[in-house]
Amino acid sequence: MEEHNRSHVTRRALLTSALGGAAALTATAVPSRWAIGQARALKVGLMLPYSGTYAKLGENITYAIEMLFAEKGGALGGRPIELVKLDDESKPEAAQQNAERLVKRDNVDVLIGTVHSGVQMGIHKVVRESGTLTIVANAGNNEITRSLCARNVFRTSFSNWQPSYSMGLALAKKGVKKAAFVTWDYTAGQEMGAAFKEGLEKGGAQLTQLLTLNFPDTNFQPILAQLPSLDVDAVGAFFAGGGAIQFVKEYAAAQIKAPLCGPGFLTEGTLEAQGAAAAGIETALHYGDGLDNAKNVAFLKAFKEKAGREADVYAVHGYDAAQLLAIGVEAVAGNIDDEAKLYAAMRGAKIDSPRGPISISASQNVVQNIYLRRVEGGKNKVVGIVAEALSDPGGGCKLA
Ligand code: BEZ
Repeated sequence: MEEHNRSHVTRRALLTSALGGAAALTATAVPSRWAIGQARALKVGLMLPYSGTYAKLGENITYAIEMLFAEKGGALGGRPIELVKLDDESKPEAAQQNAERLVKRDNVDVLIGTVHSGVQMGIHKVVRESGTLTIVANAGNNEITRSLCARNVFRTSFSNWQPSYSMGLALAKKGVKKAAFVTWDYTAGQEMGAAFKEGLEKGGAQLTQLLTLNFPDTNFQPILAQLPSLDVDAVGAFFAGGGAIQFVKEYAAAQIKAPLCGPGFLTEGTLEAQGAAAAGIETALHYGDGLDNAKNVAFLKAFKEKAGREADVYAVHGYDAAQLLAIGVEAVAGNIDDEAKLYAAMRGAKIDSPRGPISISASQNVVQNIYLRRVEGGKNKVVGIVAEALSDPGGGCKLA
């Protein structure tokens, strides 16, 4: 029988801040007194961006994961948590090698990743082969939970389709007839552009132009210069993090008449920096300001205390990734080798999320409400619901 002693590891693990040593691979070591005759630590690899345009997203995911583990006393199913953090720099070209370091060299039991869809694809190649339990805490690439779905891979964030389709549909319902879409040219931008178009068309409107630049470039001027001459009623955009801050400011400065909108990443975690430039922007997302459910109220307070800044949707993704992990690991009392029971518990999870109730679809993507938000008074104020309990419609996943 293994003995469980939680407190010492808990403190060590959680005192490692989200940012501490993030530039390279960092491990929160398990004190040696755990090694013999006591519960083996559950090694959780966090492969996230801690530098570059998505750095704040990775930080907030990490803070929130640490928060949930602290709420659980630093252990799940009787096993103390050991975190191993790796800065993936949002570089797809290094993703497979980085994931292999976590899986093969560090022997993580669980991998929680990442923000960038291209990097997630690299992780996916590795974990589909290794069978490592994986929870996607942001990246939306549709295929991860469609044709490439895997029984060991779950997602608590969104598919790229969910918020962007919803924005296109909401726009068409408001009477917009023609819109353009601006984005970075990589999986997330491409899939969000396609979903925005699908939503517009569903509502009887059209996508007339798709304008792109390479990730993570921020030379927006050539694109902004084209927009005034386009015959459109609205411009949708997918950018996030530092890129979103800059795009929104430059769009406002260019005094383009067509209102700017998009999947909600455009104004998420960015409003303080965007200032007046963001006022009035409407977006669709699975989170927003003013959701006053008890879980969100407590979450916002606890996150502010831990991180010293406001929570955002990325923090919610991280928190829910950890909540889902807790449900699985607790169901098997720490024995994650009991995969049938572990996955059944995770697939059946009904999670009380700060965003509202969520569940897991048959393809192991999150099912969630999509809210319409408008930037007012420096907040992404929820002004309506575009879709309740929206599931990604994609096919190709054969998980029963
Ligand atoms: C993505 O690459 O999937 C992504 C990155 C940031 C925000 C949303 C999606």
